[in-house]
Amino acid sequence: MSLGVRLEALSAGYGSAAPVLELTDLEFPPGSFTALLGPSGCGKSTVLGLVAGFVRPTAGRVTAGSEPVRGPGPERGVVFQHYALFPWRTARGNVEFALKRLGLPRAERRRRALAALAEVGLAEGAQKYPAQLSGGMQQRVALARALAAEPEVLLMDEPFGALDALTRTRMQSLLRELWQRRGTTVLFVTHDIDEALALAGRVIVLGGSPGRVLADHAVPAGPPDPDLRALIARHLGSE
Ligand SMILES: Nc1ncnc2c1ncn2[C@@H]1O[C@H](COP(=O)(O)OP(=O)(O)O)[C@@H](O)[C@H]1O
Ligand SMILES: [Mg+2]
Repeated sequence: MSLGVRLEALSAGYGSAAPVLELTDLEFPPGSFTALLGPSGCGKSTVLGLVAGFVRPTAGRVTAGSEPVRGPGPERGVVFQHYALFPWRTARGNVEFALKRLGLPRAERRRRALAALAEVGLAEGAQKYPAQLSGGMQQRVALARALAAEPEVLLMDEPFGALDALTRTRMQSLLRELWQRRGTTVLFVTHDIDEALALAGRVIVLGGSPGRVLADHAVPAGPPDPDLRALIARHLGSE
């Protein structure tokens, strides 16, 4: 199951300062994988915050499926760059804790936590504490925590930005696999053009102040297309 996401004539800002984002209509169909690229400060995290329900738009509308977004909800999972795990809980404990707000019975929380940890290749590490896990493994726990709630939309904010190159490539493959298996709608923020092209079926470049859409490209399946890469690099460079 997955939900489409629609942004309609969105404007957003913080406090009384000038708007940081002014978007025309954007639609993310159910099961699509979209990368959002753009320089620091252009509003990428704000877009995810709006869809997650952490940020309220000052104008326009955000819809997930047929419902307007009014706040955070379990059908929209979030993974940040900094894993934000509780250091005093084990990997399994962290995932179980996140399931508490779903009101699931204890046994079901445990079953789901172990299944999600196995899905991200961490069955062995379930009893370990974050300090006993590498950065890549901690990010797997964060991913398992989001997946265990069985979200229909997955919002990822530079999730692999702090990982070394090899770990990052492994996490990218894992994410592609998970996406192919689950068909979840993914919005993936990155400032790495190659990561965007490796993962997504569509790349949107944001930029300007307030942030807006500078380019919106479908990424054809198959080997990387150097011309498309150059085109997107030009849009990024035009900032
Ligand atoms: N909580 C906040 N309070 C005030 N300003 C913010 C807050 N979060 C982000 N901003 C501002 O909004 C703009 C967009 O930020 P952000 O969405 O985090 O961009 P990005 O993720 O592309 O780096 C920036 O100018 C940033 O300083
Ligand atoms: Mg950001």
